[in-house]
Amino acid sequence: MKKYSVMIGLFLLIGSGMWSCSDSGEEPVVEIPDDPDKEEDNIRLKAKFDIGAAVTNRELSSAQYANTLRTHYSQITAEFEMKMAHIWKGENNYDWAAADEMVNFAQTNNMKVHGHTLVWYSSFPNWFKSANYDSAAFESRVKTYIERVVQRYKGKVVSWDVANEIFNDNGTLRSENCPVYQTFRDPIAFYGRCFAYARAIDPDAKLFYNDYNVVLASGKRGAMRQLVNRFQADGYPIDGLGDQFHYMVSTNRNTIRNGLTDMAGSGLLIHISELDIRVNVNREDDYVYLPSEQAKHAEAYRDIVSFYESIPQNQKFAITTWGVADNGTWLRDWWHPKEYPLLFDDSFQKKRAYNGFLEGLN
Ligand code: XIL
Repeated sequence: MKKYSVMIGLFLLIGSGMWSCSDSGEEPVVEIPDDPDKEEDNIRLKAKFDIGAAVTNRELSSAQYANTLRTHYSQITAEFEMKMAHIWKGENNYDWAAADEMVNFAQTNNMKVHGHTLVWYSSFPNWFKSANYDSAAFESRVKTYIERVVQRYKGKVVSWDVANEIFNDNGTLRSENCPVYQTFRDPIAFYGRCFAYARAIDPDAKLFYNDYNVVLASGKRGAMRQLVNRFQADGYPIDGLGDQFHYMVSTNRNTIRNGLTDMAGSGLLIHISELDIRVNVNREDDYVYLPSEQAKHAEAYRDIVSFYESIPQNQKFAITTWGVADNGTWLRDWWHPKEYPLLFDDSFQKKRAYNGFLEGLN
């Protein structure tokens, strides 16, 4: 039961000329609650919903990473190991090794698994795309794929992103590079049947539609609302909506709050499914994650979590961060190498962002 203080960025302050000696002469310290067993210090224990993280098998092999994960999170999402192209190697050739390894880790550690993702334009395998199936052949194969995957992890995967990123921000269907759009006259009906195929195999798994920029783009939200209405009218199952939440410290808070409230108007479960908050918003090569930046970051986490807390309790499914520690973030490849978007630093120490997340919880 110990608390300790962490010196944050003292050398950066000195180096940047912002620092002058404090009156007391003591070292500047920021208290970060650090008793993982204490409810008010631990996001997993404090939250009344699941706290998830995107993980990779490579990272799971590090003891420090695995410990951080089981201490602070209750649920995992495979960052890529459960996507179609990683499992479906040929029509009758399924590679389960990586997904099994991850699901086994969760079982051993008493964690839930959110399945990501059954149908995503970006992860159709090349062999499938080059076959140029007509709509009937396309659908019978995807149906079999969904059935086999959901069957294999039945009872172990609590929820699935059945479809991911089918809309543009303005609400039109994504057409570019989208095999579903290119094959079906009525893509929404096809997606509805995909939800039904998953439901038929595992009636207990919660089924989600997942996308990005949902709380920012009213056009996309409108399209999602129409999808839900149509599914409900036509008898296709759907339990929840996910917004990935790859946002920035500068993303307008009112827009986020209003968008989230609007999403919750669907009455479905709401998943913040891939949360990370970029700090190096202008992709500056000389960006420094100064204490002032860390403080802004913590505020952004606090606000987002508190907005989530304000939706009805029975609609809170989970908040999932897209990674655990900054050294594993996809954004260092996809955005900028100097990016620090997560709750733990490169040495798995809690950041002020973690504290912000804690503060946002009810
Ligand atoms: C990303 C992963 O983080 C990368 O490691 C991978 O190479 C590409 O996909 N939206 C999604 C996620 O739904 O699956 C994406 O994950 C990030 C954007």
